[in-house]
Amino acid sequence: MKHTKIVDLLTGKNLLHEVKAKGWVKTFRNNQFIALNDGSTINNIQCVVDLDKFPAELLKKVNTGAAISVTGTLIESKGAGQNVEIQVNKLKVYGEANPEEYPIQPKKHSLEFLRENAHLRIRTNMFGAIMRVRSTLSYAVHKYFQDNGFFYFNAPIITGSDAEGAGEMFRVTSLDFDNVPRTEEGKVNFKEDFFGKSTNLTVSGQLEAETYAMALGSVYTFGPTFRAENSNTSRHLAEFWMIEPEVAFNDLDDNMDLAEDFIKYVVRYTLEKCHDDLVFLDKRLQDEEKNKPQAERSDMSLLEKLNFVLENNFKRVSYTEAVDILRNSKPNKNKKFKYIIDGWGADLQSEHERYLVEKHFKCPVILFDYPAEIKAFYMRMNEDGKTVRAMDILFPGIGEIVGGSQREERYDVLVDKIKSMGIDEEELWWYLDTRKFGTAPHSGFGLGFERLVLFVTGMTNIRDVIPFPRTPQSAEF
Ligand code: 4AD
Ligand code: MG
Repeated sequence: MKHTKIVDLLTGKNLLHEVKAKGWVKTFRNNQFIALNDGSTINNIQCVVDLDKFPAELLKKVNTGAAISVTGTLIESKGAGQNVEIQVNKLKVYGEANPEEYPIQPKKHSLEFLRENAHLRIRTNMFGAIMRVRSTLSYAVHKYFQDNGFFYFNAPIITGSDAEGAGEMFRVTSLDFDNVPRTEEGKVNFKEDFFGKSTNLTVSGQLEAETYAMALGSVYTFGPTFRAENSNTSRHLAEFWMIEPEVAFNDLDDNMDLAEDFIKYVVRYTLEKCHDDLVFLDKRLQDEEKNKPQAERSDMSLLEKLNFVLENNFKRVSYTEAVDILRNSKPNKNKKFKYIIDGWGADLQSEHERYLVEKHFKCPVILFDYPAEIKAFYMRMNEDGKTVRAMDILFPGIGEIVGGSQREERYDVLVDKIKSMGIDEEELWWYLDTRKFGTAPHSGFGLGFERLVLFVTGMTNIRDVIPFPRTPQSAEF
């Protein structure tokens, strides 16, 4: 007999039939009630065992974490908390989990402890919920773009270009380190590390996506990107997934509209499809909030925050207006944050961004028209000659979730910019060809997928929303 997923058994449609379930034991209460979970849902199915029917030797193996199969009749449950349960007739243990050794016991584990056990943390309710939400969000990303006429474009992972020019690249090497090519001075010749060329892991698929947008019209990437940032924050990973749409003939306003519509769609889709998981995560957060001092408690639950984003327009504010707001803001009493920034032209620090979003506007904010000096080479210059058509989307509790822009489509202006920034024009010959042949206005953005998952799950550390986080501290799995 084939087994049925627990998510389907719980609908009760097989009531009074013989069913089979397979999964991992969450708890085995009073040697009578097995809470069984197979990952298909946050909810367990209760399996009722008649002690006299099974040898004690077998029941001893039914520990938390053990993999088992149960066969029995699906009946209505009299107990609170579930509608149906399985009256077990047959019980098989595939793999035991010795309680003396198995780290994931039915108690509250700290997130730090779980990070050290990244290969087993998925067996907790919390990580099951987070990773189902992550999977659903991924699907929603593809669905949104596919339903709206975009083509999925796979950007290369190994590339010779540095899209962001921030020098945060991991080099890719094919060098045989026992036989390294050296320069005349005896230094390792990294210029030749990828079969004679200099290459790195991509920081963004944007430049390549632009070439495709110039033929397919609307494209998007959704793949891993890498940044050799030696920073240890709760918002940065060395390996993260980025979603990058790129659209021919879109200007910056179209770009903002697309980003807002897209984010709302994926949040709405996930709210609908992952309702039980989000209710679980919401409850977890509310329990955490109770341990905080009153003044620090959030005034909205997770579900309220998600609905708030759906129901309200993102506030669109120029960089210049934002600087004025920050200048006129009162410095925080305890002087922990200095909201007054150095002056027009400086990049906003994360405390500035959080002030704008969490204290001033109290909603997602799209900041646009940044000073050219602090943004990448490819952004379109505005008529003022000072600002570029850049946009960052800032989210409460997260900070920057999206970075994007209208691209500089004018060949001469772009070449001048590249030169003035000291970028090697020759390395970008293929990119410049898009401006030489049939150039057109176009725009796009990059959304950091893990930051989106952070927002939707209410988690606060980016290491907890990706299966195996790559940070300077952790890459052992
Ligand atoms: O703002 P960024 O650097 O923009 C780009 O890479 C553009 N080329 C995107 C484009 O226009 N196609 O990165 C985009 C987003 C950020 O807003 C942030 O959400 C995320 O990527 N991000 C990171 N997420 C996790 N860890 C890191 N180290 C990240 N760096 C950026
Ligand atoms: Mg950015």
